[in-house]
Amino acid sequence: MPQTYEFPRGFLWGSATSAYQIEGSPLADGAGQSIWHRFVRTPGMVKDGDTGDVACDHYRRYRDDVALMKSLGLKAYRFSIAWARILPDGTGRVNPGGLDFYDRLVDTLLENGIEPLATLYHWDLPAALDDRGGWLNPDIADWFAEYASVMYRKLDGRVKKWATLNEPWVVTDGGYLHGALAPGHRNKYEAPIASHHLMRSHGAAVKAYRAEGKHEVGLVVNLEPKYAASGSADDKAAVARAHAYMNRQYLDPVFKREYPAELREIFGDAWPEWPAEDFELIGQKIDFLGVNYYTRNVTKNDPLSYPLKAVPVKQDATYTETGWEVFPQGLTDTLTWVRDEYGNPPVYITENGSAFYDPPRAEAETLEDPLRVDYLGKHLKAVHAAIAEGCDVRGYMAWSLLDNLEWSLGFSKRFGIVHVDFATQKRTPKRTARVYADIVASNGRALGAPPR
Ligand code: BGC
Repeated sequence: MPQTYEFPRGFLWGSATSAYQIEGSPLADGAGQSIWHRFVRTPGMVKDGDTGDVACDHYRRYRDDVALMKSLGLKAYRFSIAWARILPDGTGRVNPGGLDFYDRLVDTLLENGIEPLATLYHWDLPAALDDRGGWLNPDIADWFAEYASVMYRKLDGRVKKWATLNEPWVVTDGGYLHGALAPGHRNKYEAPIASHHLMRSHGAAVKAYRAEGKHEVGLVVNLEPKYAASGSADDKAAVARAHAYMNRQYLDPVFKREYPAELREIFGDAWPEWPAEDFELIGQKIDFLGVNYYTRNVTKNDPLSYPLKAVPVKQDATYTETGWEVFPQGLTDTLTWVRDEYGNPPVYITENGSAFYDPPRAEAETLEDPLRVDYLGKHLKAVHAAIAEGCDVRGYMAWSLLDNLEWSLGFSKRFGIVHVDFATQKRTPKRTARVYADIVASNGRALGAPPR
């Protein structure tokens, strides 16, 4: 008998974006500069000198984009709020123009029957706060809670699902250790400090939510399962380090109130001690975990690689344009690992998707993107398998609604289920969007249908 793919009732089907990647108009209506506004202006940091000055022009076209979501039958939309639009100096003065934008966006979503999921921080720190040390300054936990409270007071009730941070690992690894992302630091001593203050800030925003909000608050992490390249003890130890660094570093403190022991081995004398009360702040109960999943990593020991002494091993498999192996089983494995390790928390897949080549112009009403269609279907089946194994997965947000600014890779990588012609801003659904619309409308059953 062919397998059927019915998802649980009320499963939340949607798509995701982030502010700097799509909005454009970064300084409109009184907004302050963010670190990305600066970083894109630093020569050599972003491919082809691309910027988010226009991006998808979503700041002005949000109504059309919401109509597009509705036409695809999407039930939810995960977006992020640009902190510097709300508090141009990062703290203190609130900017009504910035608040208005998200107010209108949320109302437009609700009018169209689409549930908003708001992320408070998706990498665009106010530049004014970077000038005060950014994520290295311990005061940032208070700054973040202040900003979060402004948003809770404005939108809680209309927004019922809040995420504090998007992917603290990327913020630190890209922003403070390897320097490929804003603010572009490369410093082993800074990295653990930035991570810890990110997690304290998460905790402070959860605490503020319990005072101000009445619905759900959670954290979004990117998880990438690690598999040993061989059965050797060295490779197994390399996997343990890689797993602790990327995955457990941000979940153990939330669910177990401690960091994994491997981090001391990785960072050596750069690994600080932190007071016990910090873990009480970080380890407050969250209502859901957001999981972003893209790929896996087969890992082997390599004494020369910094800082993990571990490197990925290329597989005989399909790779996306960002060089990531397509490995749907890794999503099931990740979800069952979260179930077993952290007490089966409610999970939303807050991002999953793929960059494959699409042309700059779409010539038909639907752009054919067979590799992305295949990626979507296989990963949704992997989510379904995890649910069948008892994982409490409650929703799936495709990354991304639109082709957008892929950070330091500029517009060169297209993750959208909808194509954007950046010369004209024309939106064209890709086949993935059409297939996804059928899956959403049938609550998953269309996954069992023969390919067309
Ligand atoms: C981020 C997105 C990014 C995507 C693809 C995630 O790490 O949250 O902003 O575009 O991956 O690289």
